[in-house]
Amino acid sequence: MQVDTLILGAGAAGLMAAAHAGGRVLVVDHAKAPGEKIRISGGGRCNFTNLHASPANFISRNPHFCKSALKRYTQWDFLDLVARHGIAWHEKTLGQLFCDNSAKDIVAMLLAEMKTAGADLWQSTAILSVARDGAGFNVTLERDGRQVMVQAANLIVATGGKSIPKMGATGLAYDIARQFGHAVTDTRPALVPLTFQPERFAPLAGVATSVTAACGQTSFAEAMLFTHRGLSGPAILQISSYWVEGDSITVNLMPDADPYEALRSQRQASGRRQLGTVLAQMLPTRLADHLATEWALAGNLADQSDAKLRALADRLTGWALTPTGSEGYRTAEVTLGGIDTDGLSSQSMMSKTVPGLYFIGEAVDVTGWLGGYNFQWAWSSGVAAGRDI
Ligand code: FDA
Repeated sequence: MQVDTLILGAGAAGLMAAAHAGGRVLVVDHAKAPGEKIRISGGGRCNFTNLHASPANFISRNPHFCKSALKRYTQWDFLDLVARHGIAWHEKTLGQLFCDNSAKDIVAMLLAEMKTAGADLWQSTAILSVARDGAGFNVTLERDGRQVMVQAANLIVATGGKSIPKMGATGLAYDIARQFGHAVTDTRPALVPLTFQPERFAPLAGVATSVTAACGQTSFAEAMLFTHRGLSGPAILQISSYWVEGDSITVNLMPDADPYEALRSQRQASGRRQLGTVLAQMLPTRLADHLATEWALAGNLADQSDAKLRALADRLTGWALTPTGSEGYRTAEVTLGGIDTDGLSSQSMMSKTVPGLYFIGEAVDVTGWLGGYNFQWAWSSGVAAGRDI
């Protein structure tokens, strides 16, 4: 069978590319249904883009690489598409846009766009091998127990990263990249909860509080959640993309207040109050009790010198924690790193060395922050490749 363009992967990027590539297009995927990550994303409502999306929200060895694609297909372009399909949406927080109804609306929209463009879709199809054939590609597939050879002038690899293997994530894109001489940067789970020694935070499981979480020069002011195995919540997921094993993170538990001044004025107003009681006014009670024990806080406010209050305030604003690890690809929202952008055109996503070979979406070494940025990269890189064909 012959096609102009074969797209491997019917996820966010692959479906978007299919809607924009001209000629005879076939999309194949080993999963039973297309766009499964879209369907479960954003708690079933899909945080499909972010009003503030800009290159600054992406991590890559080459931070300039994403600029061209993001500029030529923006969050406003995607919003136009959503509007044309009558999908209602709302901003939840920090520019994050979600469907009012269901993430399934986004999958249906992409399938409709793909259909209008005349592309075909084969689900439950295994990709057995990929080979260069003259100016094109020979790809061996297995479908309904039979092998099918597809010849394609263009091959778009959109099989994503390694996060959530249970949902069908594989390292296929990296294998194909290496097969064709492309470098792949180190990959690691990102947007992932961080783990600590067993029982370190178990008694606090379920407690949430607003923090600023920092690692190196990067920080995020959002909510943090204690879990049975460690820390999660948006602030921690964000900072996990910047954390590597052995690093510590710093958590400011009072990002919106000056705890030193607050403690001093409390000492003046009600010096007989126990330190632990005062802390419980500033933080969720269970967390305050935990810290009072861990930091051996004793006595009432009047007993505390300025230096002691300063030391406590510093601890509250700079709680240094060393995670033992992360929850890994099992729960990570994305894979950090991927196909080295040095080998790709930033305008088209096409290989600089193998004409007709494209890599798009999460497989590429471009990783967005939490908040709709990763889908925006899937849309923008998918459109860049599709339009180039
Ligand atoms: P994607 O993973 O979507 O698609 C890859 C496709 O390739 C899949 O259909 C897979 O079955 C197929 N495939 C893989 N290996 C194959 C093989 N060997 N053979 C055949 N087919 C193969 N982002 C965001 O911006 N907002 C959000 O709300 C969320 N929420 C979210 C929740 C959860 C739980 C996760 C895991 C992730 C998110 N994300 C997100 C991230 C977002 O889902 C992700 O960045 C994009 O789906 C990436 O799109 P791609 O098309 O590159 O890969």
